[in-house]
Amino acid sequence: MKPANKIIHGNCLEVLKTFDSSFVDLSITSPPYNKGEKHKGWLVKNVVYDACEDKKSEQDYQNEQIKILNEVFRVTKDGGSFFYNHKIRWEKGVIIHPLEWISKTDWTIRQEIIWDRMIAANIRGWRFWQVDEKIFWLYKPTQNNKIGKELASKHALLTSIWRFPPERKNVHPAPFPLALPTRIINSILEENEGTVLDPFCGSGTTLLAAKLLKKNFLGIEISKDYINLTEERLANCNNEKKTAEEELQKHTVLKTFKDRKQNGEFTGKFKKGLSPKQKNQINFLEKKTNP
Ligand SMILES: C[S@@+](CC[C@H](N)C(=O)[O-])C[C@H]1O[C@@H](n2cnc3c(N)ncnc32)[C@H](O)[C@@H]1O
Repeated sequence: MKPANKIIHGNCLEVLKTFDSSFVDLSITSPPYNKGEKHKGWLVKNVVYDACEDKKSEQDYQNEQIKILNEVFRVTKDGGSFFYNHKIRWEKGVIIHPLEWISKTDWTIRQEIIWDRMIAANIRGWRFWQVDEKIFWLYKPTQNNKIGKELASKHALLTSIWRFPPERKNVHPAPFPLALPTRIINSILEENEGTVLDPFCGSGTTLLAAKLLKKNFLGIEISKDYINLTEERLANCNNEKKTAEEELQKHTVLKTFKDRKQNGEFTGKFKKGLSPKQKNQINFLEKKTNP
């Protein structure tokens, strides 16, 4: 089965097993973090989901994540990608890094992106205030290409640190902002093609971005209420179009430094009319790098 433009109600591990292999181009997800009721804080309210508990034994949690990551690998085309959002946690003072289980899956880890969530500081605690989460770019290699294609020039301004504030208008307890999947889909897929999967689709933010960018979308979610919320957002997708468009406008580089150099165009270094001071600076740097 290769469903398209659907949200399927159920446990993602079981639902994924019913899918054909190798038909998804890109997956984006944020699973429950297995933090739930263990860490009651005075500032940050607990994330409580509608239809599942978020407090498994850490070993069971990691084993389940490995199985899900591997099922997503199976349904992904060769050369496809998976952007997996998670965070560093601590249990009784011991750090738990997501790489502990991601590195045991079939995926090649292409990059670790830091998501700066731009949330409040000025808070005393046992560690410096944790404002980041991680987004792991996972890649399914093809026979001839173990590292994947080069990104298009328009993304050349993006770095490995992404700054998005948390989503505040959504009633789901842990949604990500629409700009996040919009950036990923626009960076990875060609225009107007591809199938995007979110196995923990929540309020459907990934699916909404996929729809706005004219991709096939496919979501799995265990809560019927969150599916209803997703359906409502998809039906009214024009209400959130502006947010996606604002993110797309940030992708504006037409030619990278490398493209300009290959075409013999201006690269900045030998601009006519450099001031004597600028020429001296260039000479100085060249002597330093080629003594
Ligand atoms: C962090 S939230 C995802 C939020 C989503 N990115 C959004 O923007 O709304 C994780 C979601 O996974 C769902 N979930 C938890 N366990 C699941 C499972 N085994 N299969 C499918 N969905 C599950 C929860 O109900 C929750 O909505």
